[in-house]
Amino acid sequence: MLLLNNTLYFAQGTTRKCYLHPRNPNLCVKIPLQNQLKRQRGILRSIERENTYYQKLIKNNISWSHLCQYHGDVETNLGTGSIYQVIRDTNGEIASNLEYYLQQKNFIHDYQNQLIIALRALFAYMINNTIVTTSLLPRNIVLTGVPDNFKLTVIDDIGNSEWLKVSELTTALTIRKIRRKWHKMLANMQAKYEGLSKSLIDDVLNT
Ligand SMILES: Nc1ncnc2c1ncn2[C@@H]1O[C@H](COP(=O)(O)OP(=O)(O)O)[C@@H](O)[C@H]1O
Ligand SMILES: [Mg+2]
Repeated sequence: MLLLNNTLYFAQGTTRKCYLHPRNPNLCVKIPLQNQLKRQRGILRSIERENTYYQKLIKNNISWSHLCQYHGDVETNLGTGSIYQVIRDTNGEIASNLEYYLQQKNFIHDYQNQLIIALRALFAYMINNTIVTTSLLPRNIVLTGVPDNFKLTVIDDIGNSEWLKVSELTTALTIRKIRRKWHKMLANMQAKYEGLSKSLIDDVLNT
């Protein structure tokens, strides 16, 4: 059994707490939040869904260049956790997510072009490997390589939440779904963050 403690804790999202693996600094262990009993079942279902989808990606032998790898589940003193690769920046620090960067003063002003190029690369990666996300949000994407070597990596919310997996029937339907998620994320970003290009959606999705 893995022993986790507060010194290993580094972040919390909407459903899980993230701890560094006590023996491997390149891995992290995510533990479902305990204190929301009502939501617990839904949380567990979404985690199970993500794990199932990861198994499918492993079977399909996809490229992991823009997606953090899943390494199975593990028993810990805080309950069952899921193990993932940790995305670290060039200086070794744990990468920060895109929401963090978008909120930084001047980030958009200073780095819009690099950001658009990185978004395009991530979009192309998801299309080429037909990777579907349940939601696509800036806080579930981490950014490394600021200021001159931008790279985006998806770290959360992988998978398909449809009951009948209609959009997985054909590649064309999957691609339509990926584009829809991207359109929504980019439109939300434009509404929320000042200074983003009016042609952001076109710049990222139609080149
Ligand atoms: N593999 C990872 N590498 C680097 N940072 C991560 C990784 N996983 C999560 N994080 C950070 O922790 C935050 C919360 O993790 P996340 O997996 O999104 O939790 P939740 O499932 O609760 O939404 C993310 O927004 C991100 O900043
Ligand atoms: Mg998250």
